[in-house]
Amino acid sequence: MVLKLNLIAAACENMGIGKDNTLPWNLRTEMNFFTRMTSSIIDTNTMKKNVVIMGRRTWESIPDKFKPLSNRMNFILSKSDLDLKNYRDVYSFKSLEQCLEKLKCPEFQDLYESVWVIGGSNVYKECMESEHFYRLYLTQILKNFECDTFFPKIPDNLVTIRDSIVPEGVQSENGINFIYKVYENPNFKM
Ligand SMILES: NC(=O)c1ccc[n+]([C@@H]2O[C@H](COP(=O)([O-])OP(=O)(O)OC[C@H]3O[C@@H](n4cnc5c(N)ncnc54)[C@H](OP(=O)(O)O)[C@@H]3O)[C@@H](O)[C@H]2O)c1
Repeated sequence: MVLKLNLIAAACENMGIGKDNTLPWNLRTEMNFFTRMTSSIIDTNTMKKNVVIMGRRTWESIPDKFKPLSNRMNFILSKSDLDLKNYRDVYSFKSLEQCLEKLKCPEFQDLYESVWVIGGSNVYKECMESEHFYRLYLTQILKNFECDTFFPKIPDNLVTIRDSIVPEGVQSENGINFIYKVYENPNFKM
């Protein structure tokens, strides 16, 4: 199986993604989209789940009642030893390399279907530099919010594609407009 990293993020006009370790906006439909995309399994005849990869601060930003993200294996990156013994289906890694090694293990490959990288900044950046970077699902919010965390520069060579699962056109909630964009890495080798 070829390891594909799918990134998923929401960014406002200045490419901000967070403020004070939370999201600067409250868009329920966008959050539902995130949950659907990262949880959906194509082969329902198996017990496989998807993997979500995140940095330690993104893990901490998830409210306790939603931790770990349900029906997904939660992979957390941190240089420190995290206390995760109270959680099931949660793994921590000291580097992205270690995390990718786990995903490439033949025994582990039977347990998951797709891999979603859910932030934050450095995790997105490192993953876009990886040979395994496949797609970026970016919700572009058509408004500016004050942010302290930003999406890294999107490589110039990515191509915009259509994915039938992604709603097209301008979406709207609470008077905020946003569009779902899908980018693909043309250098990804199947
Ligand atoms: N809008 C969106 O789509 C979106 C998505 C995700 C997050 N966010 C927002 O973004 C903010 C959090 O993102 P962030 O960029 O500040 O932090 P983050 O990437 O979630 O976490 C940073 C931490 O992750 C660990 N880490 C990152 N890369 C690593 C690597 N290669 N190897 C080992 N450890 C690594 C380090 O933890 P240690 O310090 O423990 O070593 C680092 O300090 C919050 O505001 C959150 O709400 C928004």
